[in-house]
Amino acid sequence: MIVKDYTEMSKLAADAVVGLLESKPAAVLGLATGSTPIGLYEELVQRYHHGLDFSQVTTFNLDEYYGLASDHPTSYHYYMQQHLFQYLNIPATSINIPNGATPEPAGECRSYEAKIAKVGGIDLQVLGIGTNGHIGFNEPGTPFGNTTSLVNLAPATIEANSRFFERREDVPRQALSMGIRSIMNCRRIVLLANGENKANAIAAAVEGPISETLPASVLQLHPDCTFILDQAAAKNLTHSRG
Ligand code: GLP
Repeated sequence: MIVKDYTEMSKLAADAVVGLLESKPAAVLGLATGSTPIGLYEELVQRYHHGLDFSQVTTFNLDEYYGLASDHPTSYHYYMQQHLFQYLNIPATSINIPNGATPEPAGECRSYEAKIAKVGGIDLQVLGIGTNGHIGFNEPGTPFGNTTSLVNLAPATIEANSRFFERREDVPRQALSMGIRSIMNCRRIVLLANGENKANAIAAAVEGPISETLPASVLQLHPDCTFILDQAAAKNLTHSRG
């Protein structure tokens, strides 16, 4: 879907979450970080103030920087608290984010997958996209069969995400990320993208070959995946779908 602007994109994504919670109040939401979903989270907070109940919801975040404690201001734990969780009534015990400070990443990744399986899988996964086509922190070249893993960040991602850190050297080089297979197992996916710097990645993901060199291209194989794009992010698509 191509919408007018960032506000419309965020509202439409919020509508998808609201629709799900209306039919399934105990839904399992998969959440993303980055600048893209901030507007969606603001919308969800508004809707919570207008009566939307999150008390039975369970959440799983896509990823976390490896080596950052949860109270580190650039950790995704901190981001989620700041932008969403502090405002909603989701019980703390129902919130799941990979523990980037774990001394045992392999065990943490296994237990993360086990927790997702235990609640019956993710109903709706929100995704952003990297300028190199990554989803979660699954960089180009990541095998499609991967589940949650300790992954290396691509130089382009370190560069792009350095804007959140004081110095480029401070950006962690690794992360714990749900894998492509974990993402493909979600029952529904909504990918959000805005801005011209995402236009090439979006065109390649939607219209290019399905290839591990462009991780988001795998979404062409998902039975229920919607891209919500602003005009700028959609500008390189040859077959625009309203
Ligand atoms: C990070 C996250 C991704 C996110 C991407 C794009 O690398 N791990 O989940 O989609 O950045 O971020 P932004 O929305 O800031 O462009």
